[in-house]
Amino acid sequence: MDATAWDNKYAAADLVYGSPPNQALVEYATALPRGRALDLAAGEGRNALWLATRGWEVTAVDFSAVGLQKGRRIAEKSPKSVRDRLTWVHADVTKLSTEPGYDLVLVLYLHLPAEQRRRVIRSAIDALKPDGILMILGHHSLNIADGVGGPQDPEILYTPEDLASDVDGLGVVIRAEKRLRDTDHGTAIDALLLASRSPLGSGNERG
Ligand SMILES: C[S@@+](CC[C@H](N)C(=O)[O-])C[C@H]1O[C@@H](n2cnc3c(N)ncnc32)[C@H](O)[C@@H]1O
Repeated sequence: MDATAWDNKYAAADLVYGSPPNQALVEYATALPRGRALDLAAGEGRNALWLATRGWEVTAVDFSAVGLQKGRRIAEKSPKSVRDRLTWVHADVTKLSTEPGYDLVLVLYLHLPAEQRRRVIRSAIDALKPDGILMILGHHSLNIADGVGGPQDPEILYTPEDLASDVDGLGVVIRAEKRLRDTDHGTAIDALLLASRSPLGSGNERG
């Protein structure tokens, strides 16, 4: 889907992905000391806002102006200190050049053809501080046959092993696993990867 298609999707409903943050992010990041986070493909900003509410400085990037606008609008209900910790960036994440400065980089439910995905993963790793953590989470390739929801094009889904192979030579894999997620329509299957740029970050794992 291109940016216009995402704009249309976000324009059609109030909050397409709801306001609660992703549960895997909550499980993992609750134990991390707050710092600077980069949320790539942030959508309507549910995860960025949750992190900012917890004291993180967050840069939320997405190529959907409508998604970002919704994120900004929801954040307006938060205290000024939270709003001030959020920076919204309208950009294509496959074309970003990033500087190392982030303690946490998120790539949640971004589904792209493999070559573009690898480009995003490379900039995500480049954005990490030496002890920073990259979290990638999305619909597992098995989700089409055995799970519910999510994109139905196998070319843009991935396994934890695909993600681990994407970071090979660029960073250190901390965790690569299949995760089950309960939804109103049944159980969805996700792929999770936690990685760092150097072995320094692997000490950050919690849980
Ligand atoms: C399924 S949504 C996930 C949003 C958010 N990460 C979440 O978990 O709520 C996928 C997002 O990826 C964004 N996206 C897709 N391709 C992109 C690209 N090349 N550059 C920036 N954003 C992109 C879309 O606009 C959309 O907001």
